[in-house]
Parts: sequence; C-alpha cells; structure tokens
Amino acid sequence: MKLKHILVGLLGVVIVACAGFFAIAWKSAIAPITPPDRASFDQALVHKGAMLAAVGNCTACHTQPGGHSFAGGFALPTPFGTIYSSNITPDPETGIGAWSEAAFNRAMREGVSRDGKHLYPAFPFDHFTLVSDEDNKALYAFLMTRPPVKQTPPANELPFPLNVRLVLAGWKTLFFNEGAYQDVASESAEWNRGAYLVNGLGHCGACHTPRNALGAEKAGAHLAGGQAEGWTAFALDASSPAPVAWTQDSLYAYLRQGWHPDHGVTNGPMGEVTGNLGLLPDSDVHAIATYLASLMGTPSPERVQKGEEIRKQVSDSLALVSAPSPAADTPTGRGQAIYEAACATCHDGSRPLPFGGINFHLSTTINAPDAQNAINTVLFGLPAASGRQSAIMPGFAATMNDQQLADLLAYLRDNFAGKPAWADVASRAADTRNGKFQVSVRPSDGIERGPDNIGAQDQ
Ligand code: HEC
Ligand code: HEC
Ligand code: HEC
Repeated sequence: MKLKHILVGLLGVVIVACAGFFAIAWKSAIAPITPPDRASFDQALVHKGAMLAAVGNCTACHTQPGGHSFAGGFALPTPFGTIYSSNITPDPETGIGAWSEAAFNRAMREGVSRDGKHLYPAFPFDHFTLVSDEDNKALYAFLMTRPPVKQTPPANELPFPLNVRLVLAGWKTLFFNEGAYQDVASESAEWNRGAYLVNGLGHCGACHTPRNALGAEKAGAHLAGGQAEGWTAFALDASSPAPVAWTQDSLYAYLRQGWHPDHGVTNGPMGEVTGNLGLLPDSDVHAIATYLASLMGTPSPERVQKGEEIRKQVSDSLALVSAPSPAADTPTGRGQAIYEAACATCHDGSRPLPFGGINFHLSTTINAPDAQNAINTVLFGLPAASGRQSAIMPGFAATMNDQQLADLLAYLRDNFAGKPAWADVASRAADTRNGKFQVSVRPSDGIERGPDNIGAQDQ
C-alpha cells in the first residue's frame, strides 16, 4: 500500500511539473493581418532596416545560393541535423506577409513564430533578443517592402525528439535570457554601442563562442573561439592566437575593409561578415573595434615586443627562424620543398597584401590551435569574387594528397609559428575532402550575396 501511495504522490508531482512546463512552453498565435501597403512605410526607415539586415546577416541565412533574396530554404547543417531557414519575404501564405509588427518583434525577442511555435536557435534569437524595438521596427519595414516570393522551405531533417518543437521550450528555460540590451553604466557610449552590435544583431558569438553538447553557447566563454560552416572562428578575447596582438586600430581597419597588413584577409564565412559591415557608418565599426579591443585587454609587454619583432623581420624579409633547413627526407623537409615550389612565390613575394599572400609569420591561421582553416584554404583556395577585384588563391585539392598536405603544414608550423605540427592533419584533410566537414568556400570579402540593390526594388 505504501508503495502505491508513493507512486500516486510521484505521479501528482509529475503532473504538476508538466502543467507548469506547458504553462511556460505554451505560446499563443498572434492574429494574421492583411499585408500592409508597401507605400505606408517611411523610406528612411526602410533604408535603416536594410543596413541593420546586413549587420544581422539575414540575407546569408535566408537565401539559397542563386535563389530569391529572403525566400528561405537555405540548409543549415548543425551537429543535430539539417535546419532550413524560413521564407521571410512578405508573401502572406509562405512568408511573413500576414505578420504584424508585434509578431515580428516576438520572433526576434523570444524566438517564437507568429502561430506560436518555438523556433530553433539556428535562428540566432539568443542574440537578436537584445535588438531594440526601434531597430526591429526598421527591420520590419525593410522586410515588408521586399518583393513577396511564394516558396515553402523543405522540412527540417532532425531526429526524434528534436523534431518536436516543444523540446525547445526546455532549451530556452536552460539557456536563453530574454530581453533588450541594457547599457553598462560604467562604460562609454561608444563601448555600449559596440557591445549592442557585437552581441545583438552582429551575433559574432554565434560563430566565435564555443558551444556545449546541447548547442548553446558556453557560459563564461564569451568569444573564446568557436566553429562555423566548417571553419574555426578564432578567439576574440585575451586568448586570441594572432601573432601580432590586435589593437583598436587594426580591428577597425580589418572590419572596415576585410583585411589588414598584420593579419591578412578575411576567409570563409568571415568574408561575408565584413562584406555586410561595409554598409555600417564608420562610427559603428569604430564602436565594434572599441568593444572588442576592451574584451581582448591590453596585451602584455612581452607580447607587444614579440609582435614588433615579427613585423620588423617580415618587413626586412629576414628569416625569423635561423635553424638549419630540415633534412630532405623528413616530413618538414618534404614540406619545405612543397612550400618553395607551390606557395613561396605569393607568400614570400614582393606583392603587398591584400592581393599578395601574407607572410606566414603573421598568419593567425598558421598559429591557430587547430589545422582546419589551413586545410580549407590550401584545398579550396580563395575563389575570385564576381564583378570586382578580390584576393585570389588557387586551391590545391587536385594536386596535393593528404600526406603531402600534412608535411607542408608541419613545415609551416615549425618554420613560421615555432610550434609543433598539428597531430591530425591527414585525417582531417580526408574528412574535409569527403564532405564529413561541410566547408563553405567564399571569396575574400564575400559580398556576393549582399542584399539586392534596394533602390532598384523600391521603385
Ligand atoms: C545563422 C542563420 C540565420 C540568420 C543570420 C538569420 N536567420 Fe532568421 N531564421 C533562421 C532559421 C534556420 C530559421 C528557421 C527556424 C525554425 O524553423 O525554427 C529562421 C527563422 C526566422 C524567422 C521566423 C519565420 C517563421 O516563419 O517562423 C524570422 C522572422 C527571421 N528568421 C528573421 C530574421 C531576420 C530579420 C534576420 C536578420 C536580422 C535573420 N532572421 C537572420 C536562420 C537565420
Ligand atoms: C597565386 C598566389 C598564391 C599562391 C600560389 C598561394 N597563395 Fe595562399 N593566399 C594568397 C592570397 C592572395 C591570400 C589572401 C591574403 C592573405 O591573407 O594571405 C592567401 C591566403 C592564404 C592563407 C590564409 C592566411 C591567413 O592567415 O589569413 C593560407 C593559410 C594560405 N594562403 C596558404 C597557402 C599555401 C600553404 C600555399 C601553397 C600550397 C599557398 N597559400 C599558395 C595567394 C596565394
Ligand atoms: C558566420 C560566422 C561568423 C560570424 C557571424 C562572425 N565571424 Fe568573425 N570569423 C569567422 C571565421 C570562420 C574566422 C576565421 C577566418 C578568417 O581568418 O578570416 C573569423 C575571423 C575573425 C577575426 C580575425 C581573427 C584573427 O585573429 O585572425 C575577427 C577580428 C573577427 N572574426 C571579428 C568578428 C566580429 C566583430 C563579428 C561580428 C560583427 C564576427 N567576427 C562575426 C566567422 C564568423
């Protein structure tokens, strides 16, 4: 009898807990509206929205390569399965045409769709929650004045129970802090502006912060280095692996123009980020640089001195490591032969950045904690951007096997970074070639999928 009582009691607890959970998890639908007249939106607001949409990279995730802008269906591979982005054009049936501004604000602030269903954090609402009502108003005006496109994205490919959206309510209880950005009173207005852009719309942490097993950004590891689209997004805190420490000025220049003489050009998904920041006023890019430089902190005098030595020796074209050349039949010896035959003309040549290759003493990629970005760059190179000049590098996937790549990188690490070889280059290279790691290959400053010409669409 006693056992029965305990079981009944437990059942009661479970029922109450479930009811409580459903009370939190349940979100009501917001009534549909007739799509507002495009002419009802203020043009200045629409233009502001275009700029904000670029900072939020909405086009990149909501457009299939070669498809209509914002029509969705772009596949986002996650460790849990593939999630497809929604159609956010103002088509009333397949897009957000029937969404009121309140419904749009709730999606940005809480990650909830108009019909009340929870959204996957592949949509970075954990960052967008910080966006102000005023900026959401401009984003809404911009999206509602885009050409409507009728297109339904494919169904997500997620295993049970992750395909049940109610699970997301649990995820939110554990990891999601809802609420607009609050100024930090002890910091300057510029710093706060930078923090708002970096942690909110810019969602830099979505790539640059490591994630836990449930896909949430790790607490206490803000911008400590993460993964994105088959690339490593380097640490932007005090643990930055850049050989020459970043400064506010170099961060500003790199984010403004997509490259810096001490750090090279942006690669992989970062190219698109700097391409998009191109629409921001200088003051906002300065604010981002101010905030990031404060996160990185003042580098130690030793680090500054080391950086100065590297810069001087690179500009004097002196070999930094005076060690004798490795014996020809060792991995580094074979790697040196490949470097001299295939890389040195550009990476030890006289053509300056951004069109010449960086001297590897300066390369974060060669100094990084893992080999992934070096492997991606050597295999796939840097494709040319269409319709404008960009930094270009040939890919070596067809001409170099995995062992040659491992030897080459062993030499680059030893000679240019003074660090031990990465252990797993050959196997990582094989997984990169066979598609186990899906790598997005983009031109250096990556504005190929920037928002369609606004003027032309608004006529
Ligand atoms: C990193 C990729 C990514 C970025 C960047 C991104 N989105 Fe999304 N978004 C998604 C995905 C994926 C979904 C679908 C989530 C789901 O089905 O649960 C989505 C869903 C949405 C929805 C909900 C639509 C619906 O029908 O429920 C809205 C609204 C939205 N995004 C707006 C935006 C805006 C505005 C921006 C730019 C400020 C943006 N997104 C940037 C990936 C992204
Ligand atoms: C035709 C010229 C050319 C050749 C040959 C070439 N590269 Fe590059 N490479 C570039 C350019 C241009 C860039 C972009 C500017 C930059 O950041 O270095 C680049 C970028 C890189 C980067 C990214 C550096 C960083 O930290 O941003 C790596 C790594 C790299 N190349 C490795 C190699 C290796 C290894 C070889 C030889 C197998 C090679 N490259 C051959 C032109 C070349
Ligand atoms: C979609 C993923 C993604 C987003 C979003 C993103 N980054 Fe990056 N970022 C990367 C990757 C990948 C790299 C490394 C490749 C390279 O060297 O260009 C990188 C490199 C960088 C670097 C160079 C670091 C170094 O030491 O070489 C800086 C600085 C940077 N990002 C700043 C930012 C800022 C600021 C934001 C937000 C406005 C941001 N990133 C958003 C993926 C991203």
